[in-house]
Amino acid sequence: MSEWTIGVIGGSGLYEIDGLENPQWIAVDTPWGPASDALLTGRIAGVKFVFLPRHGRGHRIAPSGLNFRANVDALKRAGCTDILSISAIGSLQDHMPPGMFVMVDQFVDRTFAREKSFFGTGCVAHVSIAYPVCPRLSGMAAAAARAAGAQVHEGGTQLVMEGPQFSTRAESLLYRQWGCDVIGMTAMPEAKLCREAELPYALLGMVTDYDSWRDEDHVDVSQVIAQLKANGDKAKRIVVAFAKALPSVRDPSPIDTALDGAIMTAPSARD
Ligand code: ADE
Repeated sequence: MSEWTIGVIGGSGLYEIDGLENPQWIAVDTPWGPASDALLTGRIAGVKFVFLPRHGRGHRIAPSGLNFRANVDALKRAGCTDILSISAIGSLQDHMPPGMFVMVDQFVDRTFAREKSFFGTGCVAHVSIAYPVCPRLSGMAAAAARAAGAQVHEGGTQLVMEGPQFSTRAESLLYRQWGCDVIGMTAMPEAKLCREAELPYALLGMVTDYDSWRDEDHVDVSQVIAQLKANGDKAKRIVVAFAKALPSVRDPSPIDTALDGAIMTAPSARD
């Protein structure tokens, strides 16, 4: 596959992207049920983009209610080769202040009320998720973020919590002790499912708050919305810069074949 088709999953505050030539909303059926919304397709600087508002336009679906399998499957069926996920995150570190963008590269998955695999009954697969993000995609997104004037931290471990309530102070302090840098509610099982779908995945996190670990303040929705308003346009500019800098030909990624050797079920026993 030599042409890029970039799937962008937009988080809170990012319900569309700018600069799309010939924009069209298309509905995609999946065997997993409905995705969060229709997909917005078009081109930026000649590159094909497929955009999905993670929570639906108008933010209708809470993290635990997201149909992650349908979202990833719809993007795959729409022909995406790579997924750039954009998400609001809280910071567990002084040196990652609100307003900064973090290219997350590791996760601690503490979610528990979500369907996490395309495999299970009739065909069992165990993909490697040791390195859950694609370094190539992540590096290109970091460069685009810098080109768009953002302050970027490359690398960071995200605690992914179930929500929808924010963390207690004790939880927030515990996650810091575990070595986590940022916190969010949606990157899992999104990243795992992308790997099962053989889609390279990168996560651009927009820091909106300091979560609940500091004495002087703790996160609330007004802080998150204020930062999203301040940074939403920057996120859109990052997508445009990313498109403009993308190499014209997509070399294959090892993630394109992540399922090779991952299926345990004998071919004769598969549904
Ligand atoms: N998203 C944005 N800020 C967050 C926080 N502090 N905890 C969980 N998810 C978040």
